[in-house]
Amino acid sequence: MTQDELKQAVAKAAFDYVESILEKDTIIGVGTGTTANFFIDELGKISHRINGTVASSEESARRLKEHGIPVYDLNSVGFVSVYVDGADETNKHLQLIKGGGAALTREKIVAATADEFICIADESKMVQILGKFPLPIEVIPLARSYVAREIVKLGGDPVYREGCLTDNGNHILDIYNLEILAPRELEQQLNQITGVVCNGLFAERGANRLILGTSTGIKTILP
Ligand code: 5RP
Repeated sequence: MTQDELKQAVAKAAFDYVESILEKDTIIGVGTGTTANFFIDELGKISHRINGTVASSEESARRLKEHGIPVYDLNSVGFVSVYVDGADETNKHLQLIKGGGAALTREKIVAATADEFICIADESKMVQILGKFPLPIEVIPLARSYVAREIVKLGGDPVYREGCLTDNGNHILDIYNLEILAPRELEQQLNQITGVVCNGLFAERGANRLILGTSTGIKTILP
């Protein structure tokens, strides 16, 4: 199977799971990225049965609406029953690196409100130690170089993602050369830097269930 076929397969598996728990009032949180897009396309097949969704990006909201699926502001619904999203890396504890698509802040907010967070990923995303994928950090534009200098003190190599403006009007720094042995601690440390809006470590609130596409089939992994 190609990587795209694996992404499609895990999206379908997540859809089957969500459909099995779907109730009249269920609000589904929907992530961002190519894997999440496959999930959105599955949802499109039952758009008439979906009460509503909350999207983690403008791009996902647009795709959902194209399928005729209602999209709500998180403030008006309060929380989501289930949140389905991809990841850039996951470890076996289902702690994640996210933000390759620059949507990390809204993703973290929606995930925080979710009763259940289901991560969908192909096997290339599973790692022993997080950090090979550069860790995205959303920063207030004015603070970008200050935050970058603070990150160098922590041992990372920040690179400004040129031309990228987040849905919140901020910039992204990608932090290279981190070997993240203590994800929760680093997540908290990064949050302490003035000017950081959000970092792409999802360790405090990792996933509750990982649906992983592998060459030998789909595996469900719990933390
Ligand atoms: C976007 C994300 C995505 O979930 C992550 O980048 C994975 O993307 P893809 O499914 O395209 O591999 O965090 O901000």
